[in-house]
Amino acid sequence: MVRIDQVGERIYRISSFAPHKRLSFNQFLIDDERPALIHTGTHPMYDDVRSAVAQVLDPARLAYVVVPHFEADECGGMGRFVAAAPEAVLVCSAVGARINLWQWDYAGPVQGVEDGDVVELGRHRLRFLETPHVHHWDSLMAFEETTRSLFPADLFLQPDDQPPVVYENLGAEMCGWYREAGIFAAEGPVRRVVDRLEPLAPAWAHPMHGGSVPAAVLPNYTAALREEPFAFDGRLFGRPLPD
Ligand SMILES: [Fe+2]
Ligand SMILES: [Fe+2]
Repeated sequence: MVRIDQVGERIYRISSFAPHKRLSFNQFLIDDERPALIHTGTHPMYDDVRSAVAQVLDPARLAYVVVPHFEADECGGMGRFVAAAPEAVLVCSAVGARINLWQWDYAGPVQGVEDGDVVELGRHRLRFLETPHVHHWDSLMAFEETTRSLFPADLFLQPDDQPPVVYENLGAEMCGWYREAGIFAAEGPVRRVVDRLEPLAPAWAHPMHGGSVPAAVLPNYTAALREEPFAFDGRLFGRPLPD
């Protein structure tokens, strides 16, 4: 079941919970002159996500489909969202465009962005941060400057079915999930990005799994990332690999 919640000034969280994965999958829609969809959900989720977008605006008006890194839950619907919107451009990191879209099965327009690049949506402005190795080489985050909303992809996630806004300190659960799944090779690049995010003073972090985290609660999560181990410890989704 998909739910839609407004989590900011004309910013909508579209969320579905997958009990067998103990994770929710969130997409964020910014309603503006040039609307943006941040993450698309997986390929099979397309019809549900599209219907949810249509409750807010005509999906054919989408101007930007933002893919922060190339995994099915971030990009599985990108081809169809872009094809169904005549003005739409796929936005990913410059590295992502170079290593993932080159000679791949995607024929639509692409804008590869570098650190500091800005995309104007109208009233909203998306500034991009390149965040390599958090958790992929091509990882990108978006910061909406007028509402100070951070879209950190898989950083600050919380497992299980969470409310649209999370006030609980689930920093230990977050780090535990990262360790078990093995999605970060090392703590260093992540902690460097945490240090870069703090001066931005985000009013919100909108992770793609779990609930949105308001500014007053976010320090719990940054503290966990600074103090707890969360890097790959030999397990992939809980399955130990031989030493
Ligand atoms: Fe991911
Ligand atoms: Fe994800």
